[in-house]
Amino acid sequence: MSNYHIKHLEEYWQVYRKSVRNPENFWEEIAEEHFLWRKKWDKVLSWDFSKPEVKWFEGAQLNITENCIDRHLATRGDKTAILFEPNDPSEGAQHITYKELHERVSTMANVLKAQGVEKGDRVCIYLPMIPELAVALLACARIGAVHSVVFAGFSATALATRINDCDCKMVICSDGSYRGKKKIDLKSIVDEALESCPGVTTNLVVQRTGGEVTMKEGRDIWLQPLLDQADTVCKATVMDAEDSLFILYTSGSTGKPKGMVHTTGGYMVYTAYSFKNVFQYRENDVYWCTADIGWITGHSYIVYGPLCNGATTVMFEGVPSYPDYGRFWEIVEKHKITQFYTAPTAIRALAKENLDYVEKYDLSSLKVLGTVGEPINEEAWHWYNDHVGKKNSPIVDTWWQTETGGIMISPIPYSTPTIPTFATLPLPGIQPTLMDENAQEIKGNQVEGRLCIKFPWPSMARTIYGNHERYRDTYFSAYKGMYFTGDGARRDAVGYYRITGRVDDVIIVSGHNLGTAPIEDAINEHPAVAESAIVGFPHDIKGNALYGYITLKETGEGRDQDNLRKEINQLITDRIGPIAKLDKIQFTNGLPKTRSGKIMRRILRKIAGKDTGNLGDTSTLLNPEVVQDIMDNALV
Ligand code: WTA
Repeated sequence: MSNYHIKHLEEYWQVYRKSVRNPENFWEEIAEEHFLWRKKWDKVLSWDFSKPEVKWFEGAQLNITENCIDRHLATRGDKTAILFEPNDPSEGAQHITYKELHERVSTMANVLKAQGVEKGDRVCIYLPMIPELAVALLACARIGAVHSVVFAGFSATALATRINDCDCKMVICSDGSYRGKKKIDLKSIVDEALESCPGVTTNLVVQRTGGEVTMKEGRDIWLQPLLDQADTVCKATVMDAEDSLFILYTSGSTGKPKGMVHTTGGYMVYTAYSFKNVFQYRENDVYWCTADIGWITGHSYIVYGPLCNGATTVMFEGVPSYPDYGRFWEIVEKHKITQFYTAPTAIRALAKENLDYVEKYDLSSLKVLGTVGEPINEEAWHWYNDHVGKKNSPIVDTWWQTETGGIMISPIPYSTPTIPTFATLPLPGIQPTLMDENAQEIKGNQVEGRLCIKFPWPSMARTIYGNHERYRDTYFSAYKGMYFTGDGARRDAVGYYRITGRVDDVIIVSGHNLGTAPIEDAINEHPAVAESAIVGFPHDIKGNALYGYITLKETGEGRDQDNLRKEINQLITDRIGPIAKLDKIQFTNGLPKTRSGKIMRRILRKIAGKDTGNLGDTSTLLNPEVVQDIMDNALV
């Protein structure tokens, strides 16, 4: 039996039981056998969910880049570490070997040091999916700087909020980015953001598109000339296991985004371990996760997890529809991809196109297919299974979160029998449970409740940057002694989990988490808007789309409604980014409210979802008359 690489169901159960019986021993064995530590730990785990405080491998010292890069040099120096596939296929792929990656990361780390970045400093990275993005993350980790990657689709305002929240003193960006036919001017977004970020003293600029940019004297510096002058050797800074590795922002249902803080040792152990098992990774496989490194999936399963296993990991700059809808499958054929990991929204979008796009290519190299980010519907699951996997590649429906750092519930391919839409069983070391409305644990099977985790796991976030109280209130206060995920789930007759979706005001649109409150705040800035409420409604491709109910001030009445809709969506694009735009905007005479003044979203959700047969109890409403009015004018 191997704790580290599970190969059949019986073995899974054995390993799982062991991991739960004695988690400390279990993780200690794995940490000892498979990683490079500068110093071993004094204690495997100490924890108290009431504070909450969790420490893994306390006292241990390491540098994660030595695990991701240096230790492979002797045996895998000439193996491709990062396989870069550019937006434009004619540009040709780049194979970056472990040796080259070592040199590029070290050189970049020296540039950061020369620019005054020290251990513990926060560095904001706002880059498209080009190799420099992965190199920048690793360069920060090399010297103990804390990276905070912001997805390069966020607006200037959203970027500035994230830069200021964790006091970044440096930004790394590019002149621009390519997305299909589009060329996006990223630098000017950064320029706008930095107007409200006085703490940023240096902005390193990678040249990608060659577009025209203005460089601000004393702040903006082209990266390449600095790299050309820098030393190519950089000793790794020794970190404590519990030192911060990175911050990554995720939307909450209210308030500003939460900067989830991940630490070094536990995160490394868990992402490497889960990568190996969930993708059944073997030497010489070519693994491709289509996510952007701006999200947690990219951090854990493009960069850290795969590299820690000495894998070849693909970075794709483009979009699935360019030059045509066959692009994903063309890449699979060209690079003989063995594991392919994507989001349900991408599968749904591609399933709508002509089957020729898939059938044209040889996909026989594929061994494992993965999905992540939102519940996958049955139709999409079957399309993926039939046409991509040819019923030959198991699908791993992986449930996890920015906060969990790594995959929590997922089949182990070739071991766990899969059922469409079920994330199935917890990975070793993960102890999920369901809670009812009275905060009681629900025992037994064929039950539904709120998904919680009972015991710490190594890659869990340790806090929200600068706001530990919010961390406790959001995740550890609803159910005493448990981590609350914010998701609902069902447990079936054999104990498989099926995630039913968010139970809070977070809406997942095309796999992106969006909080309703920040979008409503953006809308309410419009001078003609009195108030607004956002809900999600089912959408064929995006999973959910956004429906806004907006009440205008008197000054807004009589204005052209289509123009108003455009202005409102522009405001949202400026404040958050285009991913948060509303699909439908209904102007209302009022919003249904409880007597205490709370908007009754439950009713609005039902109207948007065309589910008005039973609106539930409306007797507590202050203004029941608006409901009929909203239903009569609903955009469905
Ligand atoms: C949802 C992404 C159903 C869930 C790694 C979770 C899923 C949120 C799945 C976290 C899945 C993620 N099935 N729902 N396989 N995977 N989710 O932080 O609601 O971007 O809480 O992390 O996505 O999204 P995040």
